[in-house]
Amino acid sequence: MDRRVIPSPMDTVFEYDYSVKAEDMRSLYEKAKRDQWNASRDIPWDTPEPSDGRTLADEMVDIYGSPIWNKMSEKERVELNQRITAWRLSVLVYGEQGALLACSQLVDTVSGTDQKFFQATQVVDEARHNEVLERYIATRLNGLHYPMPENERVLFDTILSDSRWYIKTIALQLVAETFAVSMFKMMAECAHDPLLQEVCRRILQDESRHMGFGMLALPEVIRGASPAERSEMEEFTCVAIEKVLTGFFPVDAYRDLGFSDAQLREVQAYRRDVAARNDYAVFRKYFKRDMHTSMVNNLARLGLLTERVRPRLAALGIELPAAA
Ligand SMILES: [Fe+2]
Ligand SMILES: [Fe+2]
Repeated sequence: MDRRVIPSPMDTVFEYDYSVKAEDMRSLYEKAKRDQWNASRDIPWDTPEPSDGRTLADEMVDIYGSPIWNKMSEKERVELNQRITAWRLSVLVYGEQGALLACSQLVDTVSGTDQKFFQATQVVDEARHNEVLERYIATRLNGLHYPMPENERVLFDTILSDSRWYIKTIALQLVAETFAVSMFKMMAECAHDPLLQEVCRRILQDESRHMGFGMLALPEVIRGASPAERSEMEEFTCVAIEKVLTGFFPVDAYRDLGFSDAQLREVQAYRRDVAARNDYAVFRKYFKRDMHTSMVNNLARLGLLTERVRPRLAALGIELPAAA
């Protein structure tokens, strides 16, 4: 399927006052204009490919070091490495498309010229991320894409079909983008292909601005929300976190390499075992630090996660800060 059409009822807010009203939002807009880059010109596309054919470090393959891994040939390991890269980049490139669409809706639906100007820059940023990841997939991975995972599709359907800008912002700028940032950080530091490292580093330059929008725009709407509205926001925040933290396993990549159902069960058991031993260095270093620290702290600081949902977060391995 080449495209998907999502119905989306929205009110478009037409502003008449274009003076600066929110200084901090306007300065985020200034930073966005200053720090634009060009995916055609600023990425060293002629970087030679790694001679061993790997795109990621093998340590980033879930089953690295497991009994199954140890039995695999060099050729199979390289193929798995590339397929897992293709799977992860597919998830990310769909996320960039979803972000592009959500931000174009935000240009319409947010109130305030400063907010609209900033969102216009995020539209360009997300188009560039969509472009640069697609070009990497075409250049290095023969254009191999995997289908959009169910959880990601459901999350973006919700973001794109809910008419309220703050629901889009909670799910996109604060939850989904924090998840993407963790992935990009991991790849910027651990990719085996220097070209992939550079692509990820460039994308990351834009991301802190995007989260900044959420942190600047949301407090006012949260302060003005009724208790019922607040608990709806909190509920939605939890659902978004659950969607990004589950269902992120590249089962199709393993299947394409010829893994049987029994072998897949072994792979999943190995992953669970490693996670339970808290032994997965890459995961611990990046996901725990970013997802669990910056995202959860930010959401709790905004009042979007409270004691009420502590057990629900604990089930995902997330500890709510004590002050929340
Ligand atoms: Fe992006
Ligand atoms: Fe972004």
